[in-house]
Amino acid sequence: MRITVDGVEWRVEPGEILSAALLARGRRALRVSPRRGAPRGAFCMMGICQECAVTVDGRIRRACVTMVRDGMVVTLQGAGPAAAPRPGAARS
Ligand code: FES
Repeated sequence: MRITVDGVEWRVEPGEILSAALLARGRRALRVSPRRGAPRGAFCMMGICQECAVTVDGRIRRACVTMVRDGMVVTLQGAGPAAAPRPGAARS
């Protein structure tokens, strides 16, 4: 099964949860915080904290409660490949 993450095709296994698939492949930062631009990633892993928000097929979804689906297109929300914080930005 294949999904696309930020324009790159990944092979994933049926039944994987999206946040687990991302973490297993080294994508810990899924977005940046709106105020400070600090990297954010999955925290509670049970759908409560909303820290794992990503765009799936054009809609914002919680990655920790989203199962991968063949052909899914995922966009990490501004985290970028390295998810580096802006210079001088404190973690939030
Ligand atoms: S990690 Fe908390 S809602 Fe997904």
